Formats: sequence, structure tokens, C-alpha cells
Amino acid sequence: MNHPIYPKDHTFLRIAHRGGAGLAPENTLEAFKAGLACEPDAVELDIHMSKDRKLVLMHDPMVETTTDGQGEIGNKTLAELKLLDASVHFPHGSLPPHRIPTLEEVIDLTGRRALLQIEIKVRADNTRYPGIEQQLVHILSKYHLIDRTTVLSFDFPTLESVRNIEPRLKTCALIGRTYFGNTALSSPEIASFIASLGVDCIGTDRRFLDDTLFREYRKHSLTAGVWVVNDPEDMKRFADMGVDFITTDRPDLLRMIGDRSLAASH
Ligand code: G3P
Ligand code: CA
Repeated sequence: MNHPIYPKDHTFLRIAHRGGAGLAPENTLEAFKAGLACEPDAVELDIHMSKDRKLVLMHDPMVETTTDGQGEIGNKTLAELKLLDASVHFPHGSLPPHRIPTLEEVIDLTGRRALLQIEIKVRADNTRYPGIEQQLVHILSKYHLIDRTTVLSFDFPTLESVRNIEPRLKTCALIGRTYFGNTALSSPEIASFIASLGVDCIGTDRRFLDDTLFREYRKHSLTAGVWVVNDPEDMKRFADMGVDFITTDRPDLLRMIGDRSLAASH
């Protein structure tokens, strides 16, 4: 893969999913601290917008999935969200309270230690948060991170909106169970459709990415990655396939794979 930000000694970009969701409660500062300690090439994170229009990290639109609260994130102010404990559903032991971070808090922590993959999420009713793209571009510009960020989404109009606001931002379409469950397209047709979106990149759920589909992506010169890969054998398999990035909850395991210098010394 020829890319100006592609590390020379890696065969693919190693992405810490939700900061490092297998290491600490997902999308919290603690997850990013644990993930960054594994020296990933990039961190992936999910953003929603609070009632008072702050960008905050969470995967689901409903706070009960990961916190001790209830209700929709978009109906709560940042102050209300900050009272919640985002550690309560982490499966590995009981932890002190972990707070929901803002995007800016995560950027302050990450700095330039890793590239950013920022996924824009939608509300519980699948509608877009009005103005979330402008808000994101504003923050990335303020921190001079436009050239270090890829914006991801399952919602393709969101990516078009991002490109219209800031054409220098890279965009990456995501496809997974919902997409594959609703399409009758063949692999060549899927790749052709994704290429027609004008995105830089395609991220595919690991359960649906095979050699045939990957080859079709390549025919369209799409940068192509896979998520969420936590098993080391799967990591090796996708590395052998030639993917451009692997996204994992376990950046500690992934750091050993695809690193030519480490591979040579083991
Ligand atoms: O990076 C892509 C991946 O995060 C998409 O899936 O459900 O974990 O946001 P999800
Ligand atoms: Ca995500």
C-alpha cells in the first residue's frame, strides 16, 4: 500500500478499536491509555452529539449499553452524561467509575501518538445528528488533525457531507451484517458500488470479507480494512490476505503481527 502516513515496517495499519475495548471499558480515556501503550498506528472511536451539542464518545445511542444510566445520549447534556459510570458493564472485574469522554479529551490524550479513525454514529431512530459533521471538522481543524484523521460511517450520506465540508478529510464506508443482510449484490457489484461513493476506503466486518471481495476492492484501488479481529489466527489470515488495516479490541496481540522487524527477531 502506497500511502504517505503508512509505517514502513508494518504490512498494515494496526487500529485499536474503541481505544482498546478488550483492555479497559470501551471508548473511555482508560481504554485509550491502555490502547496507546500498545503503540497502535491509529485509534478508532465512536462519536455522538449530546443535547447541548458536545461530541462525546459512545458506541450505542442509548447509554444503558455501557453505563449505569438510562435513555438516549442525544437527550442528555454533557453535565448529565459526565455523572454516568461507563465501567459498569466491562466484563473483567469491578472498576472505579470511568467517565464518558468528550472528543477533545481523547484528542488531548492521544495527541500525535496515533492516527485517528473517527466513526460518526446516528441517533437511535437512525437519523443523523444535525451539524455533527461541521462540529467534527471544526474540532479537527482546531487541533490541526485533518491530515491525520479518517472519518468512518455506516451512513454513507454522512461521509458525503464530511467531504463537502472538508474535502481533504479521508472517508471510509463501513459495511457489516445489516448491509450484507439487505443486499443481493455480488462481490464485484458491492465493490463497484462502494467505489461509486467516492470514499477513500472500505471497512468490512470480518465475517464477510473473503478473498473474492478483497480482490474486487483492489480492482477499484480501494484501501480496504477489516474489523473487529481479536483472534491471532484471524489476524494472521487477514494480514496474509493483504488488507490495509486491521481493527482490534486487543492491540496488545495485534502489535506482534505484521511487524517485520519483530517477526524477524522471533
Ligand atoms: O471500525 C469499524 C467498527 O468500529 C464498526 O463497528 O459496531 O464497532 O462501531 P462498530
Ligand atoms: Ca466503531
